Amino acid sequence: MKIKKAVFPVAGLGTRFIPATKAMAKEMLPVVDKPIIQYAVEEAFEAGIEQIIFVTGRGKKALEDHFDRSFEIEHTLQHKGKDDLLKQIQELVPKTGTIIYTRQNQPLGLGHAIWCARDIVGDEPFAVLLADDLIQTDTPVLSQMVKKFDRLRASMAAVMEVEKDQTDKYGILDATHVEDDIVRIDDMIEKPDPDEAPSNLAIIGRYILTPKIFDFLGKGKKGAGGEIQLTDAMRTLLKDQPIFGYKFKGKRFDCGDKAGFQMANLAFALERPDMRDKLIKFIKELQKDF
Ligand code: G1P
Repeated sequence: MKIKKAVFPVAGLGTRFIPATKAMAKEMLPVVDKPIIQYAVEEAFEAGIEQIIFVTGRGKKALEDHFDRSFEIEHTLQHKGKDDLLKQIQELVPKTGTIIYTRQNQPLGLGHAIWCARDIVGDEPFAVLLADDLIQTDTPVLSQMVKKFDRLRASMAAVMEVEKDQTDKYGILDATHVEDDIVRIDDMIEKPDPDEAPSNLAIIGRYILTPKIFDFLGKGKKGAGGEIQLTDAMRTLLKDQPIFGYKFKGKRFDCGDKAGFQMANLAFALERPDMRDKLIKFIKELQKDF
């Protein structure tokens, strides 16, 4: 079965980026010249996703506008003969009807956000992308995972090893090695203290889930931080179905963190031929002062 739908939880307030996010959706913060959310949406389409489901909230109007036509800008660019830019903004607007918006009207956690999309997803496996996790790679991580799903036919999460003292920021796995880049999840726990973590293998924000997950999300049980956690629902799902961890190829940046966000900007800017040399020169100058 093909993965056709992807859920994007985008209701978060982005308090870590205040004041930048006081009146602006955190997903609209740019990495180089593209909003964080656009990287994730492009990744989804590249992986063959046909329908994007944004679980949004108050104050996120810019997100909707970003993926819509902008007649004023298009008109101006056309008038000025800036055809490249015109093409660029026209191309980022997905075909009518491919983006669906629903609202999470209370901040009850990631698990609750996904549950808000249950009727739109229906009875089929689907992807979840957390746009804060930006991954630099040749083959987008969701494409890597869809390929694995074709063979494994089971739920999976992208995983990577993190520093032992960072486990309280992630869903952490107790897992068994299956092959090269695949582990079978035996248990999982959301944001454990380092001394309680079963490993340092952490979930990163890309998932493929079977619709059975909604049965458990619907129970509304609160977990770490008093929130309804996706990790807890997956943990219950484990009793019925296998879930795999996929050690993706790529370098991950945590754009939900100020330092991680700056690193992403630098790494992605260094990939741009028009900026690369200038930046390297600047970094070398800076290094002299370190
Ligand atoms: C969420 C998940 C967590 C996962 C992380 C990846 O946490 O709950 O299991 O490891 O994303 O970024 P958040 O970062 O939203 O607190």
